[in-house]
Amino acid sequence: MKKTGILGGTFDPIHLAHERIGHAAQEMLGLDEIMVIPTGNSYFKTVHGNVTSAKHRLAMVRLSIQNDPLFTYSDIEIKRQGYTFTADTLLELTRSFPDVKWYFILGADSLAGMKTWFAPEVICRHAELILATREDQCDKAELETDIKYMTERYGAVIHVLPLSDLPVSSSQIREDIYNGILPHPMLEPAVSQYIKEHGLYGRQKSEEEIAASLKKRIKPSRFQHTLGVIETAEKLAAAWHYPYPEKARLAALLHDCAKSESDALGHAPLGAVIAREEYGVRDPEILEAIRWHTTGHPDMSVLEKMIFIADYIEPGRDRAPHLKALRELALNDPDKTIYCILEDTLSYLRNSGACIDAASVETYNYYKNHADIRKG
Ligand SMILES: [Fe+2]
Ligand SMILES: [Fe+2]
Repeated sequence: MKKTGILGGTFDPIHLAHERIGHAAQEMLGLDEIMVIPTGNSYFKTVHGNVTSAKHRLAMVRLSIQNDPLFTYSDIEIKRQGYTFTADTLLELTRSFPDVKWYFILGADSLAGMKTWFAPEVICRHAELILATREDQCDKAELETDIKYMTERYGAVIHVLPLSDLPVSSSQIREDIYNGILPHPMLEPAVSQYIKEHGLYGRQKSEEEIAASLKKRIKPSRFQHTLGVIETAEKLAAAWHYPYPEKARLAALLHDCAKSESDALGHAPLGAVIAREEYGVRDPEILEAIRWHTTGHPDMSVLEKMIFIADYIEPGRDRAPHLKALRELALNDPDKTIYCILEDTLSYLRNSGACIDAASVETYNYYKNHADIRKG
């Protein structure tokens, strides 16, 4: 029977210590293969939880193991999306590969927590556990209590894999890269190269650098539109006495950064992800203004309103009705402007038979009521 070790984790990014753990497990138990399985993630985790999107993490896994025949990878958890349970993964793997004996590798510090995982009995029934322990950090008595508990309660078969010091973590590597250490000595060269190419884990790029990158990334007409949105956002910022014009400029500059990579609605949330990961923007207000610029949402922040409106009325737009009036109105009544924009947009979409996003309708209803209440 083929013996496969599972190495799970976020791998943000995968590094050489992961590979060392895999090899140590292989040597101890004569495994035939180590399968690396990165976790999936949601939009929220990617933009606000500091987890790099699955696409990049998986690409780095692939590059890191490409020259090491012991390793394979699976996107099983990424495909499932959202939060995934180890038990589900093991059930799926045992169904897909019935002739494999599975070993699940985990850090000794995770064993105590495993009691509270979803269905630990399922995990222990379908895989033996390999506990990677760092000798300098491990409380032996505590570990033995946990092992005894898991063995008696769930019939777990547990192998302890002692490791000499592995003085590195993904968070330390991210921090190093933020401070300019790239290529990084704990990464495969191809992974360092990938991080460099995609600007991952770096500081916020300057406006000039972002503009230069966007010129290559989006169509010239889209870039022209972006310049119009910046100009309009600056005008609105001044008219509304918004105290952070530089935030307005940055949100406007990046609002359509994903336009070539996604569709009419998808480019807004994806744009927020790209702004954070590839251009290093951390300001949640800016990221949310990018996120909501197509549909809006009830009770928007000032910056969200500004980008939503500027996107619609920038000087390059000429096809929508009432633009002249809207450009006037926007200077002193943002909420009514949003209501009017959505009224025009929704009636246009209805007449053309296009599908209407529920979020736009919700925004419309909110600002309609808002306007009615003020009329009194
Ligand atoms: Fe857009
Ligand atoms: Fe736009």
